[in-house]
Amino acid sequence: MTDMKSRTDASRRLILALDVPHLDIGLALLDRLEGHIGLVKVGLELFAACGPRAVQEVKARGFGVFLDLKLHDIPNTVAGAVRSARGLGVDMLTIHTGGGREMMQAAASEAGAQTCVLGVTVLTSLGPQDLQDVCITGTPAEVVEARARLAAACGLGGVVCSPKEIGTVRAAIGGSMKIVTPGIRPAQAEMGDQKRAATPKDAILAGSDYLVVGRPISSAQSPAEAACAIVAEIEAALAEKR
Ligand code: C5P
Repeated sequence: MTDMKSRTDASRRLILALDVPHLDIGLALLDRLEGHIGLVKVGLELFAACGPRAVQEVKARGFGVFLDLKLHDIPNTVAGAVRSARGLGVDMLTIHTGGGREMMQAAASEAGAQTCVLGVTVLTSLGPQDLQDVCITGTPAEVVEARARLAAACGLGGVVCSPKEIGTVRAAIGGSMKIVTPGIRPAQAEMGDQKRAATPKDAILAGSDYLVVGRPISSAQSPAEAACAIVAEIEAALAEKR
């Protein structure tokens, strides 16, 4: 696991979504954020563009890595991918809970102590009709709850969910697993394409452990100042919870 001792508890909980097509652009942004954030999300776009090098370069700058590949395949294949990601020193890695019990157990068994495998429950882009179309019965909320419970039973380290689902998911998985939430917008920020966003404060108070934030930081005039303001909000919410 990446050594983040120099960060505050609040800044360790902030994950920057590095949604860029080229590593150089991303690294230039990271150079402006040293000390302000704990982890960096490397997603499909960047990983497809430059692969493990993205993870290595982010780690070399002292940031933890949240590798968001949403793995969904047969258990043996996913186990192998988790092993490879663990070998890269990834701190967090996502898989799809829709891959089922055996796949999740296989992923958990390969995670080791340093890599937290997180289950994505239901993509927030899917509504009730989308679930019906693929023969999944139950409302999105019911499916989220059932899958979060199954993720816990399979030994995953945490769950990724939208801010609106934090309460349900926390009740389903208990206190020891991590909850990671995207869809975060500081009160004054542009919503962009996020429709059901929450502020950093509300997400932390609801029970989230880590917040994934992209454009409110990367598109800000001063990314460092924007990250600092979010960290301060996280800090205040943590103090309010104590
Ligand atoms: O720029 P923004 O803060 O909206 O970025 C949020 C990040 O979280 C993006 O990388 C996006 O893919 C991811 N995400 C999301 N909503 C979800 C799941 C993931 O915004 N439901």
